[in-house]
Amino acid sequence: MKITVLGSGGWGTALSILLHDNGHRVTLWSYEAQEAEVMRTTRENPMLKGVLLPEGITFVSDFDSVRESDMVVFATPSFAVRQTAKNAAPFLRPGTAVVSVTKGIEGKTGLRMTEVIRQEINDCCQVVALSGPSHAEEVGRKVPTGVVAACADLKAAELVQDVFMSPVFRVYTNPDIVGVELGGALKNIIALCCGVSDGMGLGDNTKALMMTRGMTEMARLGVALGGRSETFAGLSGMGDLIVTCTSMHSRNRRAGILIGKGESAQQAMKEVGATVEGYYAAESGHMLAERAGVEMPICRSAYEVLYEGRPVQHVLEDLMGRQKRGEADESWL
Ligand SMILES: NC(=O)c1ccc[n+]([C@@H]2O[C@H](COP(=O)([O-])OP(=O)(O)OC[C@H]3O[C@@H](n4cnc5c(N)ncnc54)[C@H](O)[C@@H]3O)[C@@H](O)[C@H]2O)c1
Repeated sequence: MKITVLGSGGWGTALSILLHDNGHRVTLWSYEAQEAEVMRTTRENPMLKGVLLPEGITFVSDFDSVRESDMVVFATPSFAVRQTAKNAAPFLRPGTAVVSVTKGIEGKTGLRMTEVIRQEINDCCQVVALSGPSHAEEVGRKVPTGVVAACADLKAAELVQDVFMSPVFRVYTNPDIVGVELGGALKNIIALCCGVSDGMGLGDNTKALMMTRGMTEMARLGVALGGRSETFAGLSGMGDLIVTCTSMHSRNRRAGILIGKGESAQQAMKEVGATVEGYYAAESGHMLAERAGVEMPICRSAYEVLYEGRPVQHVLEDLMGRQKRGEADESWL
């Protein structure tokens, strides 16, 4: 298959290698021509240090290859998905398989990434979401990994499953694209909060509390927006939450650690130096929750710290001092 991957950050690059190893003809598109040039000449992406880029991958910064591709993968940060889809749309043949591997919710509209892409390409193609616990650094090193391909049209999801599946990359399918995409986007907020907890020097107990109650919030919003609660127990929910909240590969957690140690949100973003999706998701997730009338105390706290500059200690006291309740008052499973 001919495949174009749009976005040459760590994730787009790791997936290009995986797809190349699976026998596909891969073109990797960079937003900056300079990025393509560096990869072409050094056979390395600075975002994925120590991973050799195979000779067979073509590096470009124009959209020509989209025209003849059987599959197009969107792998840019969420803030760039709409513009990238708009630019790629004139080159896209109707019926091409389209995949989104971006984890986020669009700022002003609150739309999921596959919804943004579908708008920009006038619904000319099926769009599948591929999500799950998958650090680029580990996929680049061929560490065994499992993810989910989601689409209401299961045939489209199964095609993505076949194309990406490898001896080190297991792909499951799920028709619940709402739950899969929201799990991937919202867990970044919780990971940022777990980082704050670590940065403040709090304990494993605190982190477990945050992850478990965070999962309840994610599922609460997901179900209100049409997702299935069971999806949140799967790879794109619980799986991704575990990996992002506990790993040093997670930029969201690293940004949170810096904030927990007293840095401002802006300083922390700058220091991490790569896309911190949890920062954007804290705003869009908060907006979606308000709009749907869903209570998300941890996500609201993240919003208050990141966008209103509230001190983390005050926010923590508010969270711990919330009105008492029964755990079984509400179950997400
Ligand atoms: N890195 C991972 O391990 C991983 C794993 C799964 C999913 N994801 C998701 O993949 C997406 C991309 O993450 P990443 O880690 O590859 O990003 P990154 O931070 O490594 O790279 C960012 C890339 O975006 C490009 N870019 C910047 N501005 C742009 C614009 N206006 N238009 C188009 N491209 C632009 C940059 O040139 C750079 O190549 C995110 O949504 C992330 O959540 C990442």
